[in-house]
This record gives sequence, structure tokens and C-alpha cells, in this order.
Amino acid sequence: MKASIAALTAAVFAKDAAAQFAQAAMMRFQCSQLVVERMDPLVNPGMLQVGHVHQIVGGNSFNASMTPVEYDPSEKSSCTTCSFSEDFSNYWTASIYFKAKNGTFKRVPQMVNLGLKGSGGITVYYIPPYDGKTKVTAFKPGFRMLAGDLNLRSPKGMQKQICYRCEHNIEQSPFGGAPCTGDDTASFPSKPCPGGIRTTVTFPTCWDGKNVDSPDHRSHVAYPSSGSFESTGPCPASHPVRLPQLMYEVMWDTREFNDPADWPETGQPLVYSMGDGTGFGQHGDYVFGWKGDSLQKALDARCSGDRCTALKTQSVEAALACVKKQTVKEQVEGWLPELPGSMVVTYK
Ligand SMILES: *[C@@H]1O[C@H](CO)[C@@H](O)[C@H](O)[C@H]1NC(C)=O
Ligand SMILES: *[C@@H]1O[C@H](CO)[C@@H](O)[C@H](O)[C@H]1NC(C)=O
Repeated sequence: MKASIAALTAAVFAKDAAAQFAQAAMMRFQCSQLVVERMDPLVNPGMLQVGHVHQIVGGNSFNASMTPVEYDPSEKSSCTTCSFSEDFSNYWTASIYFKAKNGTFKRVPQMVNLGLKGSGGITVYYIPPYDGKTKVTAFKPGFRMLAGDLNLRSPKGMQKQICYRCEHNIEQSPFGGAPCTGDDTASFPSKPCPGGIRTTVTFPTCWDGKNVDSPDHRSHVAYPSSGSFESTGPCPASHPVRLPQLMYEVMWDTREFNDPADWPETGQPLVYSMGDGTGFGQHGDYVFGWKGDSLQKALDARCSGDRCTALKTQSVEAALACVKKQTVKEQVEGWLPELPGSMVVTYK
């Protein structure tokens, strides 16, 4: 009885969160693929090739060295893959590969989220508090941060609001409900997902107000000290500045890989490019690059969706014309005998 009441309460909460999420004004827009390569100017600045493959979207000034403030993506970029044309930020995540029974790997493509147009990439959200009035401060030039931890192989130590949704139908509803509610999991789904998999990475929302970066790329930001961002929970005294909630949604098109006959003996077949066979290592990287005060204007205007009078938008064609060649040419697509960078798959 106790368990069923708890389950019921959880379901009601999830429903509330889902309904609030669907109704809240939030910027939600497409950033199509810029490049897929082994580069990470946040964690390994200056290195032309790093350990694992990333799928990167945003401004085409993405480069091995992007020194905070000095290297301004909105000045250095000549185009962006995002639908808001003043957004030259870079957003990236690790890529997901399918590991077949015969031991070969193939990159899982991404698909565009419902209601948006473009190619692959990431759906980017900037979410203001749900109360419709609490102000947030836009990220400052040079700002960057990291969410999630690529080394995790268990839920222990996972950051909040990083999860997977197994989509049962390719016609998923536009928002599909608030992330990390319902049947969402912290690891890769264990069963085939006929409609693909939605991964969500949500970033912390409180800032120390001084540092645009920190040695671990995390300590300059924090979560609310009580309650949640959504419920306008207060920021801790150490990190008093309320930021918008940045969230990535990536729709992985697993349809080609759903036949369990092709799956390895180890179970579910997906692995991250860094060799994570569990999914707990999901992470996202952010380098701010909006032009001038355009992001602050959009937040103040409470822009919603991918059209806003406070912002300039570009055509889908213009966004797709923005591409960047791999800095170090390497095969990352098609059937590969091993993960790029010879990353070894681990399950714990
Ligand atoms: C990217 O870095 C290379 C050197 O690694 C440099 O030659 C190039 O100008 C940089 N691109 C931009 C847009 O600054
Ligand atoms: C490995 O398995 C996949 C999926 O069944 C198949 O498409 C691919 O051709 C196979 N590769 C080799 C080298 O056998």
C-alpha cells in the first residue's frame, strides 16, 4: 500500500512537472551539426586531437584554443548552425556508437526534434524560472562550463537532470514531458527504442558572479541551495547569480540498430565515444558566444520557442550551409573496427 501511494505521488509530481514544462515560456531551438571530431577546447585547450569524438554545433570559430574573453566566438565566427543567428556559442556532447555483435562500431545519427528543422545536432534550451517573472542573468563573454562526468560508470556522483528517454514512437510529442520524469533512466535504456532515444543534459543555474571558468569547469556554477531552479529555489551565497537553465536535448536515431539479433552478448549495444558502455558518463560542454547582449534581451523578453522579435533568426538553408572541416581528418562514420582514438569499452 505504502509503495503504491509513493508511486502514485511520484506519478502526480511527474505529471505536474511535465505540464509546467510544456506550458513554460522557454527558448527551444535547433542547432544543426557543425562538425564531428576529437577536439575539446574546454577540457584540452590547444590539443588538435583529444581522446574521444564529440558532435559539435554552433559558431564556426570552434577551435582547439578558445581562450576565455580574448577569443570571442561572436567576433571570430562567420556563421552558426543555430537558428538564432546571433548565437555563435558552441555546444557539444560525446557521440554515441552502436557496438555490433561482431565487435564493429557505427556512429548513431541524430535526428531533428519535433517542430524544428535542420540536420542532426542538438536542441538547445534556455529556460527562465517557471513563475514567469523572476529575472535571470545571461552568461558573460568568455563563460564556459561542463555538466556530467565522462568517467562515471555508475549513478554514484551523477549530476542532477541528466538522463535518457526511450521513445516508443517516432511521432513523440513536441516536448515529451519534463526530462528525468516518468520512465527516464540514468543509464542507456536496456531495451530497443522504436522511436529512438532522447538524451537530456541540464546545466547548473547559479553562478559565483566572478569567474567565467574554473579549473574543473564546474566549481564556478552550482545548483539552487534548496528547492529547484524551476520553483525559483534560492541560489547558495557562494553562487548568488541566477542564470537561465541551459539544457541540451539530443535525439538519437537508433532505428537502424534495434534488432536484438545484432546486439552483443553484453546486452544493450550503445557506447559513448569515450568507451562508456553504461551511459552514466553522459556529459555536455558549453562555450558561450552570443553577440553583444542579445541573449540577455531574449531572456528579458521571455522569448519562447525558436522565433522571437528580440532576436534575429536565419533560414534553415543558411544554418545548414555553416559547416567546419575536421581539423585532423579522421573516419568517424560508417562501420569502424574500433572506436576513434582506440577508446576501450568499459561497463563498470
Ligand atoms: C584556429 O586555430 C588555428 C591554429 O591552431 C589558427 O590558425 C586559426 O586561425 C584559428 N581559427 C580562428 C577562427 O581563429
Ligand atoms: C558487423 O555487423 C553489422 C551488423 O550486423 C554488419 O552490418 C557489418 O557488416 C558487420 N561487419 C563485419 C566486418 O562483419
